[in-house]
Amino acid sequence: MLGSLEGDEVSPLSLISETLLEAGSDAVRLFHGRGGAVAGYKYVAVDWYAPAVFVTLYEDVAECDAFLAELDAYLVTLERVSCFAVQRRFLKGAPVEVKWGVLPDRAHESGLDFMLSLAKNQNHGFFLDMEPGRSWLRSRAEGKSVLNLFSYTCALSVAAIAGGADRVVNLDLSSRALSVGRENHRLNFDQESCRKVTYLAHDLFKTWGKLKRLGPFDIVVLDPPSHQPGSFVATKDYPRLIGRLAELLNPEGAEILACLNAPELDESFLSGLINEQLSAASCAERLPHPQGYIEAGEGWGLKRFIYKT
Ligand SMILES: C[S@@+](CC[C@H](N)C(=O)[O-])C[C@H]1O[C@@H](n2cnc3c(N)ncnc32)[C@H](O)[C@@H]1O
Repeated sequence: MLGSLEGDEVSPLSLISETLLEAGSDAVRLFHGRGGAVAGYKYVAVDWYAPAVFVTLYEDVAECDAFLAELDAYLVTLERVSCFAVQRRFLKGAPVEVKWGVLPDRAHESGLDFMLSLAKNQNHGFFLDMEPGRSWLRSRAEGKSVLNLFSYTCALSVAAIAGGADRVVNLDLSSRALSVGRENHRLNFDQESCRKVTYLAHDLFKTWGKLKRLGPFDIVVLDPPSHQPGSFVATKDYPRLIGRLAELLNPEGAEILACLNAPELDESFLSGLINEQLSAASCAERLPHPQGYIEAGEGWGLKRFIYKT
């Protein structure tokens, strides 16, 4: 959703309570201050990982304490909330303070479970803002062969298998992330379904030959970091990737979920690249932001495009 929210009635707490009262057990963003839709709250995001409310603070601002105290006082009145925690990303190591309760170790979405590590890492193993991608992939995966590049903990692969994919190949540099990915599949599926999934702990650009041999693929997911020097820098490496992508695609037709999480690069960066280097592909759809992600600016946040060849 795009826009800004004005008026006396719109406060972070009113948005949080509105979403929280409607939320089931699915993980969801309750308040996306980062998106700038409510003035003065860019320093904070609030998420629901049932039964916990998890606050992320991005800046050390004086208003934090009052905001946290107000939220705490509200949350203790709700029976369904049994944990309240705060992560301070602006501090070294991004420490998490559990104000009360016990942090959950699973996130839930559309009947699927995902491992969560809220206490330890800056990234928790599950990206809330990829929900539209997971939902799209699940709806398209039946009988398909899927390549999930930059798979991290393979949440998209879980969605693909849940949607009936014939096979999924996940690739990520991080073998740790892929072990969590393996566990994510075990949490949700029987052995036969788990056997449809492959995990490659490799650098994408050093394993192209192997990917070609495993292909072609009906659906390819591209969700790289925007700027991870030495691994992937979007301005330099996205052109390299798109330039060779046709080699991995089913020549009879394929779909690509192409994502970019770089506010400094607007949509035309990715669409221009694909138009130039993969001219057989046309943009079929731009996936919406998920619930709770209200962005004040065009092109802020994660961009998710569907291309078809
Ligand atoms: C934004 S995360 C992907 C999130 C994932 N798609 C999801 O939905 O959970 C980016 C991932 O790309 C991986 N990565 C970065 N450079 C890479 C490279 N050159 N080859 C393979 N993986 C890479 C990182 O290890 C990281 O896990």
